[in-house]
Amino acid sequence: MRDLRISVTDRCNFRCVYCMPKTVFGRDYAFLEHDELLSFDEITRLAGVAVAHGVHKLRLTGGEPLLRRGIEGLIERLAALRTPDGEPVEIAMTTNGSALAVKAEALRAAGLARVTVSLDSLDDAVFQSMNDVRFPVDRVLAGLRAAHDAGLGPIKVNMVVKRGLNDHEVLPMARHFKDSPFTLRFIEYMDVGTSNGWRLDEVVPSAEIVELIGAEMPLEPIGATAPGETAARWRYVDGGGEIGVISSVTNAFCGSCNRARISTEGKLFTCLFASEGHDLRALLRGGVDDDGLAAAMASIWGARDDRYSEVRATLTPELRAARPKPEMSYLGG
Ligand code: GTP
Ligand code: 5AD
Ligand code: SF4
Repeated sequence: MRDLRISVTDRCNFRCVYCMPKTVFGRDYAFLEHDELLSFDEITRLAGVAVAHGVHKLRLTGGEPLLRRGIEGLIERLAALRTPDGEPVEIAMTTNGSALAVKAEALRAAGLARVTVSLDSLDDAVFQSMNDVRFPVDRVLAGLRAAHDAGLGPIKVNMVVKRGLNDHEVLPMARHFKDSPFTLRFIEYMDVGTSNGWRLDEVVPSAEIVELIGAEMPLEPIGATAPGETAARWRYVDGGGEIGVISSVTNAFCGSCNRARISTEGKLFTCLFASEGHDLRALLRGGVDDDGLAAAMASIWGARDDRYSEVRATLTPELRAARPKPEMSYLGG
């Protein structure tokens, strides 16, 4: 376990069609109550135990993490944690970017090292049809600039590609972010959760994306920078930077996965597709000490045999649909 991803809220101000479709996450959707969420004290304790036992990277996710009130205060506390060698841990965040123009400076001052921003299209009409709340793309682009100006880098941009919806935006996005300080990554549309109506024929394979971009702007593969990395990296031959492709459907990377996830209400999930999590909040609120917490996390992690993305192809659509899977907005991406 090297990478701990912590979901700080199950709420979001967007309703991305592949993640929180309005038909499911409507006005009457029952989000968690405040006392069901892990408190900042509880998150800091869990993260501290994880860091004491080898976790190097903490990533705040959601929902939209910037909707959690006082998030800067949590970042400050997490940034003060040290590994057993006395090194600081890397604090990163995955955000939809809608609040970055306002918050980037304060986040940097609190100790956030990096942000990854989700952006599915540069075309305002396409972007708004995907976020489904009429959020204009210009404000996310302004957020990206603010994050860069605040020194929240290197910044990655995540584009989920869904066939028929935004696949025609792959080249414009690649052109836009080539020769820029931002690294664009294309994510294969995944069957996370059970509400997005996922179909295999809506997945655009990464190989197709690399071929499409490479035909106009030649690319060559480069090695991973860190073990267990999600993205395969390609660089522009002319020196214009690099792109990444995250191929969880056509080229699963479960074998090297070192990511654990804490859900909004404090369950430890050993996989993005795990049917259920392990209730650490009950242990915390039951008065467990740090050694007990460490032992619980180690035994859960030691027993894991998750490899959903590798077995997905062997499941029929019926078997896939029957399998309970947590929503990404609850578990974190
Ligand atoms: P870096 O710290 O920049 O390397 O980021 P990362 O790639 O670990 O994190 P990021 O949140 O940017 O992850 C990119 C995307 O990859 C996620 O949003 C998910 O869509 C997907 N992803 C991350 N981890 C997993 C995983 O364990 N399994 C699967 N199937 N997809 C994952
Ligand atoms: N498939 C692939 N990526 C997804 N994300 C959310 N839902 C899905 C899905 N079904 C992405 C978001 C964000 C990251 C956390 O995961 O766009 O970039
Ligand atoms: Fe919100 Fe991110 Fe999900 Fe979009 S993908 S609905 S921005 S949590």
